[in-house]
Amino acid sequence: MQLQAVAENPSRIAADWLIVPVVETGDQSAAFRSLDEALRGRLSRLREAGDWTGKAGEALELRESIDGGPARLLLIGIGAPEKMTRSGVHRSLMTAVRRITCKQYEHIATVVPSGGGLEPAGAVEATALALVVGSTGQGLYRAEQGRFSPHRGTVVVPPGVEAATVVARGGIIGDAVNLARELVNRHPGEMYPETFAQRASQIAAQFGIDCEVLDERRIAEERMGCLLGVARGSDKPPRVIILEYRGAPATTETIGWVGKGVTFDSGGLSLKPSDSMKTMKCDMSGAAAVLSAMVAAARLQLPVNLLGAIGLVENMTGGNAYKLGEVLTARNGVTVEIMNTDAEGRLVLADVLDYAIERGASQLVDLATLTGSCVIALGEEVAGVFANNQPWCDRIVAAARTAGEEVWQMPMFDSFSEQLKSDVADCKNVGTRWGGSIVAAKFLEKFVDSKPWVHLDIAGPAFVESSKPHIEGGGTGTMVRTLVELAALDA
Ligand code: BES
Ligand code: MN
Ligand code: ZN
Repeated sequence: MQLQAVAENPSRIAADWLIVPVVETGDQSAAFRSLDEALRGRLSRLREAGDWTGKAGEALELRESIDGGPARLLLIGIGAPEKMTRSGVHRSLMTAVRRITCKQYEHIATVVPSGGGLEPAGAVEATALALVVGSTGQGLYRAEQGRFSPHRGTVVVPPGVEAATVVARGGIIGDAVNLARELVNRHPGEMYPETFAQRASQIAAQFGIDCEVLDERRIAEERMGCLLGVARGSDKPPRVIILEYRGAPATTETIGWVGKGVTFDSGGLSLKPSDSMKTMKCDMSGAAAVLSAMVAAARLQLPVNLLGAIGLVENMTGGNAYKLGEVLTARNGVTVEIMNTDAEGRLVLADVLDYAIERGASQLVDLATLTGSCVIALGEEVAGVFANNQPWCDRIVAAARTAGEEVWQMPMFDSFSEQLKSDVADCKNVGTRWGGSIVAAKFLEKFVDSKPWVHLDIAGPAFVESSKPHIEGGGTGTMVRTLVELAALDA
């Protein structure tokens, strides 16, 4: 899609569709008023008749053209200005774009929502992003597509915003979200450690990111005993990827982004029931987010140093699979008694976190579809945040809020570590049923050497089983926007 920003009167934009955000209370925008005028007050009359209210997410299609202007209008409610958040506006815009992209159109335009505490540039970026993400489907393997990106996307901006740059930025971040979604949506027969690593090398070369792929021999030389333990159950050899982007060569500060890349999680010998296994191609969503956000940061030339570290394995049940009771030695020397082979993500991350620190990460964020327990705690749309350092945590939470992604900090009391005590090794890899997402985070904490670290458990938001009005089923690209915002905040 060719994205552009224009500051014209929207009733003069000859698009197939014009999306018009409307508020529930207070005055409508100048864009709305000019459209209402061009339609001789029709929009106001429909409001009086109760055809639309402006409630968040409520949409009304008007298939009536304005001479020399849009052929059709879609009114989309964005709620009351005082209740507006970036995530709420994102949701409404996604709903609007998804309403009208089931058919191929040449040109879709959108008025940028405004009001309340909405920051104008953020609203422009969110609008461009929704056009790019909302118009992209998941029919990778279907002959007949169900969603179509228009050839042209126009963002109708309010005067006074650095519009062209911000629209381009929204487009770049949208592309990154779509890349993460695509990587997750590719089926696990096609996307396994070697193929993910190949794809990552290609993408890195394309965008000028340094990329190093460690094969199983190099991983063994690096003594990543926990990651290798998990990998043993599969015929597919593991890979570790190190991505480097240096946008601030004058400083040594480097943000490390660490991604869980379990390309398929069968549970191993602690086998998952079939129903829970169905979506386990999504278990590399953290890895996909890291790679995709690196691409966006490089395209945006953010003045920050980034180290992406990705651990890729398949968790399978082959004859050489790691067993319950086995003791694995992590790269940092900690010994781990395996009590459940389905708690594999933390083993992969343990070694990759330690390696990322050796490779120069001074602060860390890891992303992992780590525990079902986090989904029980926070639901399917909110990522869990776990940290060993409050100022660093506050920065990630602030980045998420600005980016419009919902996260919630969980406690990290030391009492949760009790569950990990083992009689034969330094620790076990699982605790009891209670507080499982926190216990998993306490496990990871043993491998970050007191560096400022945040763990994002994205088991809930990474994957949507079936489409909803505001989101396509499949991989979601969760936390790509937050990571990019974090890298930009640092600047
Ligand atoms: N990949 C799963 C977690 C998961 C669950 C991701 C649901 C996405 C949706 C992880 O490897 C896992 O199996 N975790 C176990 C941990 C348990 C054995 C302590 C879980 O959550 O049941
Ligand atoms: Mn598992
Ligand atoms: Zn897993």
